[in-house]
Formats: sequence, structure tokens, C-alpha cells
Amino acid sequence: MTEPAAIEGRALTKSYGGDAVEVRALRGVDICVERGEFVAIMGPSGSGKSTLLHILGGLESPTGGTVAAAGVRYDALDDKELTRFRRDHIGFVFQFFNLLGSLSAAENVLLPALIAGRHEPELRERAVELLGRVGLADRAGHTPSELSGGEQQRVSIARALLLAPDIVLADEPTGNLDSRAGRGILQLLRNVCDAAGHTIVMVTHDPAAAAVADRVVFLRDGEIAGEVEGGSTERVAEFFTTLSPDDLATAAS
Ligand SMILES: Nc1ncnc2c1ncn2[C@@H]1O[C@H](COP(=O)(O)OP(=O)(O)OP(=O)(O)O)[C@@H](O)[C@H]1O
Ligand SMILES: [Mg+2]
Repeated sequence: MTEPAAIEGRALTKSYGGDAVEVRALRGVDICVERGEFVAIMGPSGSGKSTLLHILGGLESPTGGTVAAAGVRYDALDDKELTRFRRDHIGFVFQFFNLLGSLSAAENVLLPALIAGRHEPELRERAVELLGRVGLADRAGHTPSELSGGEQQRVSIARALLLAPDIVLADEPTGNLDSRAGRGILQLLRNVCDAAGHTIVMVTHDPAAAAVADRVVFLRDGEIAGEVEGGSTERVAEFFTTLSPDDLATAAS
């Protein structure tokens, strides 16, 4: 039997609002990400990238279509089961880090365990170890306000990895960072994928960021507009330009 995909969305649609002001954020998206793959999702503002990521992560439910992670269909789970599944299998990284300002870096990393009611000493050790892995071994006691944006994002990546998720979903993880800090975060995500075998889906509107991925999927008006192999910023940017010359200007702004 072939192994199920890490995450697979079929015929996904998502509408917001009522009949009068309906917004169709997704209009029939099929996406399949294999285990250990690093996929970037690109597209202009409003094309449905965040919506798709939230649906793949089970944070929002689609209006139509199905999502399955490791062969488990979300619509077969009740709310409680889905929350648990998400906690055990998926790590999230956001543009604005979403760290708690009153907690130290180490406590922020440990937070998913505390929320899950897990107090094993091994998880504390893992939190410290992960801070070391993201290059912040000596900053464990610092609060977010004592850390740079790039360092805060490293903390949030360590937090996403705490419970050893199969899948890491990242929405514009470099969107709030300067290019140097952004490159560090991308390198870190690449390592997390290569060395630790996590599957990564990352939303970005930066061709250079997307090029770090194995594969780049383009969204446009809630539909898949095409895909290219990662690895080359030029190839990614060129495809994006071909799609619509205006979009690159939007993406660059
Ligand atoms: N909660 C909501 N209620 C109504 N409309 C929404 C909601 N969330 C998203 N939308 C709409 O759905 C469409 C897709 O939004 P989405 O946030 O997925 O875009 P995006 O590609 O992530 O854009 P950006 O690059 O600006 O983050 C947009 O038209 C947006 O206004
Ligand atoms: Mg978005």
C-alpha cells in the first residue's frame, strides 16, 4: 500500500458572508503535499493563501471539499478530536510570532505542552534543546521584548516543533522581518525539513522565500494557477510575472 500524503486537500471551496456580499476565497483547490516535502504557496494579496493554510491546518473548515492529513479526514473527527489531532500533528508559525509577552522564550516554547496538560520533564528538556537548535541557547530566560524580530520568530518555530509535529504550516514567516533575518528563518525551516523530516507548507509572497521550497504552488483568485519547482528565485519570479505582470509589483510592495 502506498503511504498516504502528509496533507491533501480535495476540491476545497470556501465562501465568506451571505448571498449579497459573498466572498469566494477558494474556488475548488486540489493540493497534495508528500511527507518530508517543503511546499511554498504564493499568490497576490487576497488570492486565498491564508484561507487555504488555515483549512489545511484544521483551523477553519471548508465550505466544500475535504482535507486529510496522514490519511485522517478532518470531517470524520469531532471538534475535540480535531483539536487533539491538530495539537499532535501540526505546528503553526505566524507572521507576527504570536508569543506571550509575559513569558520567557523557554516558557513560550513549552506553552503547547502546558496547554495540552503535559508536564513531563522530557518536554522541558526538549524546549531547551529546541532553543539551542534555533540558535537561542543563551536567550532562554529572555522575554519577547528583549529579543529581535528574527529571534522571536526562532522562538515561535521552536514552539511549533515542541510536540514533534509531522507538519509545520507557516503563514508569511518572514513577512515581518528584514531580509537578513528572513533568510535565517528560511534556512532554519529548510533545515527543519531536511534534517528532522518535517513536512512544511509555507505561504509567502516573496519569490526569494518561495524558492527555498521544493515546489511552489501559485494561487490566483482562489484557484491553483500553476506550480514550478523551487530552488531558483528567477524561475519562481518569472512564473509569477507570466501569471500577471501586475502581481509582482503587488508582491514586492
Ligand atoms: N473571515 C473572513 N470574512 C470575510 N472574508 C474573508 C475572511 N477571511 C478572508 N476573507 C476574504 O477571502 C479572500 C482570501 O483571503 P486570504 O486571507 O486567504 O488571502 P491571502 O492570499 O492570504 O492574502 P494576503 O496576502 O493579503 O495575506 C479575501 O478576499 C479576503 O478578504
Ligand atoms: Mg494571508
